[in-house]
Amino acid sequence: MNQDDMKRAVARAALDEIVPGAILGVGTGSTVNFLIELLAERRDDIPGAVSSSEASTERLNAIGIPVLELNAVEHIPVYIDGADEVTPQGCMTKGGGGALTREKIIASASDRFVCIVDQSKLVDRLGAFPLPVEIIPMAEALITRSLRKRGGRPTTRKDFLTDNGNRIIDTQGLTIKDPVAFEQTLTAEPGVVTCGTFALTPAHRILVATPDGTQTID
Ligand code: 5RP
Repeated sequence: MNQDDMKRAVARAALDEIVPGAILGVGTGSTVNFLIELLAERRDDIPGAVSSSEASTERLNAIGIPVLELNAVEHIPVYIDGADEVTPQGCMTKGGGGALTREKIIASASDRFVCIVDQSKLVDRLGAFPLPVEIIPMAEALITRSLRKRGGRPTTRKDFLTDNGNRIIDTQGLTIKDPVAFEQTLTAEPGVVTCGTFALTPAHRILVATPDGTQTID
């Protein structure tokens, strides 16, 4: 089983998380792309979706699932998304695809976050994956210095703007011992839109694809 087979398998397992008749929160990335393909089978159960990126919106539209503005939706029971790293406690690093801000907003607006990953993403501690931070462009140098002071090696993502028109700084080498405190202090810095540490909005359930099947961590 290669990594794509595992992503497809965990995406299929996530279909059981859909609440029929309710708006579904849909994330971004290659694992979610497999999920969106499969959602075509469940179109009658999904009156609409809220999407975390223009890319996912396009794919949802292509299979005939209406995409609604978050402001027009009152209740999202489940948000399904991938991660770049996730701990068994549900803390994640996200934003490899650059959609971290909208992802965090929808995670915060949803009752439950179901994280879908292959086994390579499961870690004991966050920090091996370079941490994405979405920033207001005029604060690039300021935030870069601050990330260096935290012990990281920051670089601005080349030729990339988020769906919100901002830049992303990716930082290697950070040691994130306390993800909640780390997220609270970094997101409080002026110029930071949000960071890819998801500890204040953790996953409630993690579905992990392995060559032997999909495991559930609650
Ligand atoms: C996008 C994300 C993705 O969920 C994360 O990068 C994982 O992506 P993939 O499923 O392609 O490995 O946070 O901003």
